[in-house]
Amino acid sequence: MKHATHCVAEQYQEMYRQSLEDPDGFWLDQAERLDWFKQPALGGEWSFDPASISWFADGSLNLCHNAVDRHLGTRGGDTAIIFEPDDPETAGRTLTYRELHAEVVRMANAMKAMGVAKGDRVTLYMPMIIEGVTAMLACARIGAVHSVVFGGFSPEALAGRIEDCGSRFVITADEGLRGSKRVPLKANVDAALAELDHETPLDGMLVVQHTGAAIEMTEGRDHWLHEIASDNDCPCEVMAAEDPLFILYTSGSTGKPKGVLHTTGGYGVWTATTFNYVFDYQPGEVYWCTADIGWVTGHSYIVYGPLMNGATSVVFEGVPNYPDHGRFWDVVDKHKVNILYTAPTAIRALMREGDEFVTSRDRSSLRLLGSVGEPINPEAWRWYHDVVGAGRCPIVDTWWQTETGGVMITTLPAAHDMKPGSAGLPFFGIQPQLVDNDGAVLEGAVEGNLCITASWPGQARSIYGDHERFEQTYFSTYTGKYFTGDGCKRDEDGYYWITGRVDDVINVSGHRMGTAEVESALVLHDLVAEAAVVGYPHDIKGQGIYCYVTLNAGIDGSDELYKALRAHVRKEIGPIATPDHIQFTDGLPKTRSGKIMRRILRKVAENDYGSLGDTSTLADPSLVDRLIEGRQNR
Ligand code: WT7
Repeated sequence: MKHATHCVAEQYQEMYRQSLEDPDGFWLDQAERLDWFKQPALGGEWSFDPASISWFADGSLNLCHNAVDRHLGTRGGDTAIIFEPDDPETAGRTLTYRELHAEVVRMANAMKAMGVAKGDRVTLYMPMIIEGVTAMLACARIGAVHSVVFGGFSPEALAGRIEDCGSRFVITADEGLRGSKRVPLKANVDAALAELDHETPLDGMLVVQHTGAAIEMTEGRDHWLHEIASDNDCPCEVMAAEDPLFILYTSGSTGKPKGVLHTTGGYGVWTATTFNYVFDYQPGEVYWCTADIGWVTGHSYIVYGPLMNGATSVVFEGVPNYPDHGRFWDVVDKHKVNILYTAPTAIRALMREGDEFVTSRDRSSLRLLGSVGEPINPEAWRWYHDVVGAGRCPIVDTWWQTETGGVMITTLPAAHDMKPGSAGLPFFGIQPQLVDNDGAVLEGAVEGNLCITASWPGQARSIYGDHERFEQTYFSTYTGKYFTGDGCKRDEDGYYWITGRVDDVINVSGHRMGTAEVESALVLHDLVAEAAVVGYPHDIKGQGIYCYVTLNAGIDGSDELYKALRAHVRKEIGPIATPDHIQFTDGLPKTRSGKIMRRILRKVAENDYGSLGDTSTLADPSLVDRLIEGRQNR
């Protein structure tokens, strides 16, 4: 049973039981799927009150060794990465594990030549190209802590993330490509650095030549990868299990984005184990996760999980609708993809274009389909299953979060029945609990707030530089429990149905956006007095961004200002934060003590006036009618 790849229902039950009865024994067993310099004897040592989490603390290992070097003897000639470029006419690239090793070593040597040392934070601002992956692995190799910032974030957002973790090094490319559009990555980094106060905000920048665009290089600071890379020996650093592996910024309900911190051993065991069981990966199969390495899905299930399992992982630079809406299925056919892992927002967008784009492609290589990032509506689920998978392929709907490191709730192929719209059952070691708003535990088939009661190896250890915020955010709402921020239903079969965020976070196209972040961006604009932002149901994106804005005295909300504000938010955060609607209003609904009643704003945005609830506590109850009248639906 140990390390079985196939896992049927009884095995799941038995293993799940073991994982709860003897978590240390269970996870120390699973830890054996990795190569350790020093095998751990310790399992989990943790508390949620106060929050202090460690796994395998006496072990040491290196995840680059596990993702790359350890395969050289057994499968050095097997394909590690298939790179599929944005433009299907451009030549792609395939890397064996041996070739991947050589590329990672070159990248690591270039980083060392710039002065990067163990423990240094390195910001990656990369397109979806092989060098994005090798830069992550090179950091892991030399013990540097990567902080990948999604290439779609603005220079302002990038600057904040460089500053927050005190990173002195950036790795980027001349430009990125997405749907034939060029993204000026290097120029964006320069603009970000100009935002920072210091005269010398960086010690070094490594630039990958990708499109060949002419860019400015700052003498002494900026280096072309191909000029300073070398093939010298570059051994993997010995890392303690609890040494940091990466920081990844994610939005919360308040304040600026949080640098979620993951460490080496627990994250490694969690991603390797979940990848194996969730995707039931078989040697030789081609696996494709369509995420970007700028998100946790890319970290765990494009890079670490698949490569630690010796899998073949597709790295796709493009978008689902370029050159046409059949691109995903072209890629599936071209590379004979067996396992596809994508997001409901992409499924809904493609579903809208009709079946022809799908059925005109072969897709017979597909064996298993995965969904991640947001609840998948049953209609999209059925289309994914019936049309994309031609009714042949099971779907794994995987619920998890940046903070959980890897999959937490899912059905397992061959072990469980699927229910469209339900993520399914807890993974090994995971103990979900539903509580009401007062923290009372709810049993049976019921709806409540989703908490996890016991630690698991892949759990985030802290928020970089702010452990107090870590405790506050996740462990203080329901003392002694990890609170996910999600609402959830449990049915009579014990299946979990995620209903969405219950905090002030909205999920736009599977990306988390803090309403507070968009609000702060809006009020930075000279003409804006106050702003309140809420989510509302959106056909394609899952949730859209709806903004209520009050303007400074004497200013009218014109069409021009509407456009200017949208552009302003894009500039401050990035295109993913672009408001869908901006409603200019003469006031925000506040209680007499000045608290904004977001419930009312949500209902108006949702076009759901029947259930506005009690509005009598508003300082100005007449405002509600004016809000309804001004509702935006452009
Ligand atoms: C939030 C986490 C998981 C990696 C990508 C997003 C929502 C995620 C599902 C799912 C319903 C889901 C939750 C969660 N979510 N997967 N299968 N079903 N909701 O990571 O940016 O940290 O966002 O995404 O609301 O809290 P993230």
